Amino acid sequence: MPAQRNIAVLIGSLRKASITRKTAKALIAAAPDSLRCTIVEIGDLPLYNEDLDENAPPSWTRFRSEIANADAILFVTPEYNRSIPGCLKNAIDVGSRPPNKSVWNGKPAGVVSVTPYKLGAFGANHAIRQTFVFLNMPAMQQPEAYIGGAADLFGDDGAVKNDETKKFLTKFMTAFAQWIATLQGPQSESFDDFMKRRETAAAAYVRGDAAPLDKMIPKEGDATFFPPNGGTVSGAADVAARYDKDAKAFGPGGTTSLEVLQSGASGNLAFWTGFQNARAELGGHTVDMKLRITELFRFAGGSWVMVHRHADPAAEPETKK
Ligand code: FNR
Repeated sequence: MPAQRNIAVLIGSLRKASITRKTAKALIAAAPDSLRCTIVEIGDLPLYNEDLDENAPPSWTRFRSEIANADAILFVTPEYNRSIPGCLKNAIDVGSRPPNKSVWNGKPAGVVSVTPYKLGAFGANHAIRQTFVFLNMPAMQQPEAYIGGAADLFGDDGAVKNDETKKFLTKFMTAFAQWIATLQGPQSESFDDFMKRRETAAAAYVRGDAAPLDKMIPKEGDATFFPPNGGTVSGAADVAARYDKDAKAFGPGGTTSLEVLQSGASGNLAFWTGFQNARAELGGHTVDMKLRITELFRFAGGSWVMVHRHADPAAEPETKK
């Protein structure tokens, strides 16, 4: 079965108007269909301190799980003082710990450096490669990507203005996809692998981001959703709109995990049933939720899509006699 690889895109700038973020978005837009690229945010990660790892901050856990679920990592970075910005080095450090549990181990990496100036942020591009040696991350060598003069590359809508740059970004992402395929072999997504992406999408959802879930639901035809607060939504368009609307209720600090009691796949049908545990930000409050979930999937258009979700609040825990 053809499937997509999951690429985590890390951006080494926290600035709202960042040209590095614009470049990352242009790279994502230029990626071939075989790559599913998701920006993994690093701005909320507390500075790495081993003491905190005794009870890791939720943002560290979220970040580690998003990197662990990625097939490869694309680093898009500006240059600070001829090296990488501290926020990016901090993210690398957070992902590398606890000892022997580094989420970077073996993950293929691509590097794009970005600057408004002429030297292409060469220093940052090569400084980050130094960390890959210890992290055991094979890095794509060619083509190299030193994006200079980047402040002039984008229109007001964020799109790349000139064809030459667009072509180069497409060439880079195509080479990245081919190179990952060379390392990891042809991709055929098992339902188990899909479920890892499903969990990542669930984690994004409780932070208010419905985009990853949107990529795994049908765009037309049959779909149904039985929401936790009652009612029935049916039809792919209405279900997609409802997921999108519900996600907007969540603040950015939520976390979730899926507790799978049973799952299976046969032919083009698959399911899982169990619990979804979540700590969500709702209306300015932190709310703990335990939902009973059943989800059904169909293999269509080259990937698994969720055609039904039933979610309702779990009853009070049973008291043992
Ligand atoms: C910079 N900048 C910079 N640029 C460069 O090409 N080489 C460098 O060594 C540095 N050093 C540096 C240090 C610090 C602390 C800052 C804040 C900036 C300029 C940098 O390229 C510019 O601010 C970019 O716009 C940063 O990228 P974003 O935030 O636009 O993505």
